[in-house]
Amino acid sequence: MKKWMLLCLACALLLAGCGARDDAGEGKNYADYVVVGFSQVGAESDWRKTNTRSMQEALSEENGYRLIFDDSQQKQERQITAIRNFIQQEVDYIVLAPNTEMGWTTVLAEAKAAGIPVIIVDRRIDVADNELFTCWVGSDFRKEGNTAVTWMEQHFGDRPLKIVHLQGNIGPTAQIGRTGALNAGLAAHDNWELVFRAPGDYTQAKGQELVEQLIRDGVEFNVIYAENDNMAYGAINALKAAGIRPGEDVAIISFDANRAALQMILDGEISLDVECNPLQGPRVQAVIEQLEAGKTPQKFTFVEETFFDADTLTPEIVESREY
Ligand code: AHR
Repeated sequence: MKKWMLLCLACALLLAGCGARDDAGEGKNYADYVVVGFSQVGAESDWRKTNTRSMQEALSEENGYRLIFDDSQQKQERQITAIRNFIQQEVDYIVLAPNTEMGWTTVLAEAKAAGIPVIIVDRRIDVADNELFTCWVGSDFRKEGNTAVTWMEQHFGDRPLKIVHLQGNIGPTAQIGRTGALNAGLAAHDNWELVFRAPGDYTQAKGQELVEQLIRDGVEFNVIYAENDNMAYGAINALKAAGIRPGEDVAIISFDANRAALQMILDGEISLDVECNPLQGPRVQAVIEQLEAGKTPQKFTFVEETFFDADTLTPEIVESREY
């Protein structure tokens, strides 16, 4: 409970003639809540929406939290403004899902000076001083990319590959890791040719637009490496509209492993989907509980992830998928 909240509560009680009722409802006092400001990247993908929901469910009033949520619409400037607002509001914790790796030093130094712990989720930040944040919880994006490249080696063998690469927006760890792995794969295989690469910003619309343009331009390809499911969905729409069969004429490699994408593996349209786990809310909640108890959380925690293809996936797995 911060000073400004105590002040507001005191004023409210005075205005109410010192009545015993407080505005938090359900017999609760504002002092009972842990206040968290969450700066989210945006709502660019299904993964991101699940990630937001996971955070909102874990940091709920029922669990003792007041969550102030801010959607930056994939703009770092908006995230910096949101963090400054959280500092002004004297929140107890800041949770940041950073859009890009670079550019956080100044604003995180401000949070540190204000004594507010910052928990980074999903992607990493690149700062010279790791003491600017309390800890990080997220995915090993390079490992995800390596999983995809190894699978491609094993399943495509010597077949000549003409690869279309749909990247995320440039700069986040998700893009850097998945692109880095494909670059290593391209360098290691003479039969792998990159015929097109562009950022699709993790959105379905951009993925579709890029592949429609490629088809119009007559570019030949037999693999699409899409850095998330939504771009893969867009690509698949574009292929089907042009009479090209995803999974047969063109292999689709994707990341995230949302339920809809897993169904597309069963339908033979997606060849491989490497999981990116968005359910980070309970992990952040556990970190805050540790901090509240005066403990020191682990600095870096990777969430567990796997991959799915036609050999490993079953209808039961798809049905039981949480997202
Ligand atoms: O950082 C995680 C990535 O961001 C997910 O793969 C993508 O869907 C999201 O928008």
